Amino acid sequence: MKKTAIVTGGARGIGLAVSRKLAEQGCDLAVFSTGGEERYKAALESLRERGARVHYVSGSLDSAADRERLLDETLAVFGRVDILVNDAGVAPKVRADLLEMTEESFDRVLGINAKGTVFLTQLVARQMLGQERLFRHRGHIVNVGSCSAAVSSVSRGEYCLSKAAVGMATLLFADRLAAEDILVNEVRPGVIATDMTAAVQEKYDRLIEEGVFPIPRWGTPEDVAEAVAFFCSDAVGYTTGSFLDVDGGFHIRRL
Ligand SMILES: NC(=O)c1ccc[n+]([C@@H]2O[C@H](COP(=O)([O-])OP(=O)(O)OC[C@H]3O[C@@H](n4cnc5c(N)ncnc54)[C@H](OP(=O)(O)O)[C@@H]3O)[C@@H](O)[C@H]2O)c1
Repeated sequence: MKKTAIVTGGARGIGLAVSRKLAEQGCDLAVFSTGGEERYKAALESLRERGARVHYVSGSLDSAADRERLLDETLAVFGRVDILVNDAGVAPKVRADLLEMTEESFDRVLGINAKGTVFLTQLVARQMLGQERLFRHRGHIVNVGSCSAAVSSVSRGEYCLSKAAVGMATLLFADRLAAEDILVNEVRPGVIATDMTAAVQEKYDRLIEEGVFPIPRWGTPEDVAEAVAFFCSDAVGYTTGSFLDVDGGFHIRRL
């Protein structure tokens, strides 16, 4: 019997690396993001090559109807859900100073990163509680947060606020679901080479050169995926509400 994992944002960037790792670990996958399936053809094929059955669902995380459809289609195809990886997220379209931040951008970023993550987790957790117990744990939920949960960037305050909310969501759901044997943990990437950071590549190249990150290189989606897969595995049995920094040591305060 294979586990079924939902991976939001699972067809590109960090989410794709997570999907690949979970496919290698023997999971079937429901992959969710905004584009049409055709756009991710090669990515989804790479998951099937790793032995996974894959179902793609197109929708937006900030839509209640789309979240419900994601769960409904997952159940129709696979019958259950054992793992939820909340990877999907957006940065602000424009990096504006905190004093210029717009409500529109705040609503968009918080709506996807925070509200979408919280209510999809609520939906999937209810499903996990209602289904037959087949594996060592009833469920694993992993949030892809960010170092921005605790690091101030005044040119993208709404993103930092959204990731701080994800950090609290990790604690809240971990607390609520611990006695139900559903483990909820979080991975906090630092600066990872994906489409999201492509627009600010030069800035981060310079910071790496200046030694801002103790491990002096860009992080890779695979670096993050290893940590997410660990939290999804049976190796984790007595840990919930925790987060792991995958940030090249960026969180270390220095003098
Ligand atoms: N890259 C970094 O340095 C970094 C650092 C810390 C945290 N993170 C976090 O890591 C996660 C993945 O980021 P990434 O770097 O891999 O970025 P990315 O390459 O831009 O990928 C973002 C993913 O989220 C999906 N997504 C965006 N909006 C969505 C929506 N409304 N509904 C459903 N799916 C949506 C995207 O799907 P589409 O293809 O449909 O757009 C895509 O799959 C995010 O939560 C991000 O905040 C990234």
